[in-house]
Amino acid sequence: METVVSGIRSTGNLHLGNYFGAVKNFLKMQHEHRCFFFIADYHSLTTHPTPANLHESVRQILSEYLACGIDPETATVFIQSDVPEVTELYLLLNMNAYIGELTRTTSFKEKVRNQPDNVNAGLLTYPVLMAADIIIHKATKVPVGKDQEQNLEMTRRFARRFNTMYGVDLFPEPTAYNFGQQLVKIPGLDGSGKMGKSEGNALYLTDPPEVIRKKVMRAVTDSGPTRENQEMSEPVKNLFTIMQVISTPDTYNHFLEMYNKAQIRYGDMKKQLAEDIIRFTAPIRTRAEEIRNDSAYLRRVVQQGAEKARESASATLREVREIIGFKPF
Ligand code: TYM
Repeated sequence: METVVSGIRSTGNLHLGNYFGAVKNFLKMQHEHRCFFFIADYHSLTTHPTPANLHESVRQILSEYLACGIDPETATVFIQSDVPEVTELYLLLNMNAYIGELTRTTSFKEKVRNQPDNVNAGLLTYPVLMAADIIIHKATKVPVGKDQEQNLEMTRRFARRFNTMYGVDLFPEPTAYNFGQQLVKIPGLDGSGKMGKSEGNALYLTDPPEVIRKKVMRAVTDSGPTRENQEMSEPVKNLFTIMQVISTPDTYNHFLEMYNKAQIRYGDMKKQLAEDIIRFTAPIRTRAEEIRNDSAYLRRVVQQGAEKARESASATLREVREIIGFKPF
């Protein structure tokens, strides 16, 4: 049996990238493995949300995750800030995390570029907190998208370093996980890069149908293939990638064939794609809304989750403290 930890920052709503990069894999694992799922609200402080925003985001994103089918009776569903043990492990790991390796992380460099006025120490040590989230439950598998690959590499490094430093075999080295073998990167609709909250190019699970139609119809394409089997431009490839995860194989193959015959009409493809996205997201959106308004249910879920998560986390922390040398007189 594997131990699985998966998380999401509590900023913005869930988009298709989050779903196909992480949630889908978690859903498949939750009934067979020891699974932890949490909302990373400490991590969201790196961008300074207001107290009201922080709370609302956690409620919203938790409701969306539950609406996707995460089962709080099987998986342990919790809020990061309800498990203070993780902050202690974070502090301890920070003592063995070096400035050089932290400043070299791609996501840190990106943040320095994107929020130059707020390059705080929390951003620098973001991967350390993430490692603490994961190894505090001695996780072996972490379902994430491709963008988290480097953070997972850091997690393994910190786990290994602790084991070596103290000559113990306490932490397993967890690996990023996807059922399809390869980690997934869902692209945006703007023709470049990945779909993301901060990229402003995301299709959210809670977008109403008219918004989805508008976003998809506006997606960047090109002027169309002029000969058979022409190589696809990046924006068109992106459209096909999204269709591949959301539409039926028949639909995908149909449009691929039309493309390869140089007969495709992007307008038709987009219309079909928008309707398929709506069909996929509509039930999740409705269910998320119901859950969001059910405070009693949400309270029960997070209380029960916090209890289970703390039990697991405090057991590890007790071992860590003992190993480091914090002992009672
Ligand atoms: P976050 O909140 O950015 O994203 C949550 C999950 O969604 C995946 N994802 C994508 N996958 C494929 N294509 C995309 N376009 C795409 N965009 C996002 C991410 O890979 C991630 O799996 N640092 C994490 C949160 C975190 C965490 C953890 C995750 C904190 N502690 C411990 C796992 C374990 C983050 O910012 O994810």
